[in-house]
Amino acid sequence: MSTRDRILGLFRTQKDAYLSGQEISAKLNISRAAVWKQIKSLRELGFTIDAKHSQGYRLVAAPDLLLSADVAHGLKTKIIGGNVISVQEIGSTNSRIRELAEQGAQEGTVLIADRQSAGRGRLGRRWESPSGVNLYCSILLKPQIPVQQAPQLTFLSAVAATETLNQVCHLSAHVKWPNDILVKGAKISGLLNEMNAETEQIHYVILGIGINLNMTTDQFPQELNYPATSVLIETGKPVDRILFLQTFLEKLDQYYLEFKQQGFAPIRKRWENLCNLMNQKVAVVQQSNTLTGTVVGIDYDGALQVQCSDGQIERILAGDVKPLE
Ligand code: BTN
Repeated sequence: MSTRDRILGLFRTQKDAYLSGQEISAKLNISRAAVWKQIKSLRELGFTIDAKHSQGYRLVAAPDLLLSADVAHGLKTKIIGGNVISVQEIGSTNSRIRELAEQGAQEGTVLIADRQSAGRGRLGRRWESPSGVNLYCSILLKPQIPVQQAPQLTFLSAVAATETLNQVCHLSAHVKWPNDILVKGAKISGLLNEMNAETEQIHYVILGIGINLNMTTDQFPQELNYPATSVLIETGKPVDRILFLQTFLEKLDQYYLEFKQQGFAPIRKRWENLCNLMNQKVAVVQQSNTLTGTVVGIDYDGALQVQCSDGQIERILAGDVKPLE
């Protein structure tokens, strides 16, 4: 943890109290001059720090910076977020966490970036990632499950993110197979999960998630060929990114523990409850044909189950699902 994060940690634990320069220097084993330098750099980052001659320093207000110390502070999780890394700017959090995984990063490592210069979406698309507004986050997991079951973790993260949107932002978000989250038909979040595995064994899974929180209409690229939205656009209210992220990580942790103990069944049920196309007639547009039927659920390997008019249940592995009627 950086010295800056450790000072912020001290301020957070001693909320509203003044900390003397002497105290900070003793606790962190740094010189008084180094303390002053850190306070100065925190102020430059936008932190309001009050200084009183006889009492020391007090943190009055923090900017919306997504610092790892803020995310980790008070986070009630067992596996996820044991190591939280936050960076101002990166190419792609998924690409970087893969490098960290190769260097032996622990399960539950969370990497967040304020901005991505090469954010990746599914099917080789770009993921628009401007600074100061959204969440771009990758989480490293090392589940002991067969390779074919890895898509179950995509549903797990979609459930955690959708429930967080609904609980924290009072939205009616729902999941769209395979891994989108929509509000009133517009995409608010996308998941890009990747893994490293051999024939039978998973080495690690990366859960990548982008959630449009405080993005404004003019920040979306013009060439986007699907409707997109953000929490701010939907509710008119900006979201506290730290609070949102903490709630999401806590839900993810809770469901991951449940998944380890009880398997996929509870997550499948939650996902199906959050899917507004369940038991609805849909058209599945695939590369060479379009199939129609009723959505009846998801399978253990991530396939969408669609019942056709002859009663047969088709397993859909790829395609775009659109409501009929
Ligand atoms: C999609 O819907 O196409 C998936 C978008 C996934 C975007 C997230 S943002 C954090 C992580 N890092 C990336 O480069 N992509 C994912």
